[in-house]
Amino acid sequence: MKKSVLLTSVLALSLSATAAMAQPKAEVLHWWTSGGEAAAVKVLKDEFSANGGTWTDMPVAGGGGDAAMTALRARVLSGNAPSAVQLKGPSIQEWYEEGAIGNIDAVAKAEGWDELLPEAIADQMKCDGAYCAAPVNVHRVDWIWGNSKILADAGIDAPTNWAEFNAAAEKLQGMGITPLAHGGQAWQDATMFEAVAVGLGGPEFFRKAFIELDMDTLKSDQMKAVFDQMRVMRGYVDDNFSGRDWNLATAMVINGEAAFQIMGDWAKGEFMAAGKVPGKDFTCTSPSGGAYLYNVDSFAFFNVDGEDAIAGQQLLAKLVMGSNFQKVFNLNKGSVPARLDVPMDEFEFCGRQSNADLNTAIDQGFLLPSYAHGMALRSAQAGAITDVVTAHFNSDMSSEDAVAALAQAVANSL
Ligand code: BGC
Repeated sequence: MKKSVLLTSVLALSLSATAAMAQPKAEVLHWWTSGGEAAAVKVLKDEFSANGGTWTDMPVAGGGGDAAMTALRARVLSGNAPSAVQLKGPSIQEWYEEGAIGNIDAVAKAEGWDELLPEAIADQMKCDGAYCAAPVNVHRVDWIWGNSKILADAGIDAPTNWAEFNAAAEKLQGMGITPLAHGGQAWQDATMFEAVAVGLGGPEFFRKAFIELDMDTLKSDQMKAVFDQMRVMRGYVDDNFSGRDWNLATAMVINGEAAFQIMGDWAKGEFMAAGKVPGKDFTCTSPSGGAYLYNVDSFAFFNVDGEDAIAGQQLLAKLVMGSNFQKVFNLNKGSVPARLDVPMDEFEFCGRQSNADLNTAIDQGFLLPSYAHGMALRSAQAGAITDVVTAHFNSDMSSEDAVAALAQAVANSL
């Protein structure tokens, strides 16, 4: 037997031995509190309990996770970190650099994660080359959700680019229908902004602006056009948009109070939790011309004492990467599995489309990390961009002033 294989088997044995002796327990901090999200997290809770674990739930409401991250910092500062935390992208590395999270490489090696995950996702789960987080899914951010009945009654096809979206919205507005359900919270403004940016500017523009933070791109005419479109979108929302939670905006589309929502596919989880059928009751189109903005949810494991807590971390890490879990969780969550080998035949229309688009985007080099959902940039840079986006959306700031402010805010954050 090769040395590495032998080592992996020994680790696997010792992991199961530890798990057998200890009583796995986990305190899990997450922000999955909407209907679809709660249904998804219940799959994990149930599986953890079925495998002998004791789950202590620490949900922190607030879409996009800003409130959860504030709660996390308070817990870590008081020396009482939760054992498992929903964390994403570069913030995993930020916490690792602070010495707060440990590695779960033994579980990853025993379970063969390197062979199961796309390389780009595996890399984001590693700290100094060892796994320090476990991915549960791949969400797509750049979606336009539409109410099928409203669109059919108005004789409108689901839009696949921003020009079509504007034409549809103008027509609906003329008919007295609110075109766009939006929740005026900074992270939702940012979600819409990046979908507009990738659709209008294409993948290279997006990469230069929001991954490389290239100053010329941030100040470009193309970026001005993105802010122009944001101003147009502002004209499509209802008067009560300010502060609205994302799932309440989704409910407006579900209930026929508005035609569209621009949101990641956790919104699909809401439609489905309400009994709506993808492709029949609601439409899912992307305005991105083949690009795919991805957002991976993962769990990181904070340094905690006690055999039970450590056994809980190991059990949870193993379970979230299980094939059946990745299928059932994602059927509820609206996302697709992070594992490459999970069959997609039980997924519905929009899920299968997402999975197919994901694979095409990987082949074409159009798979892009979402800046708005913490996948592309460190928190200081992402926050600097979002501050400008939301200030522009909620005022009469010109696009010229917005790009100047954007470049300045990014430069100050570096
Ligand atoms: C997370 C999703 C979550 C959404 C709304 C995103 O940042 O990745 O899992 O459903 O925020 O809270």
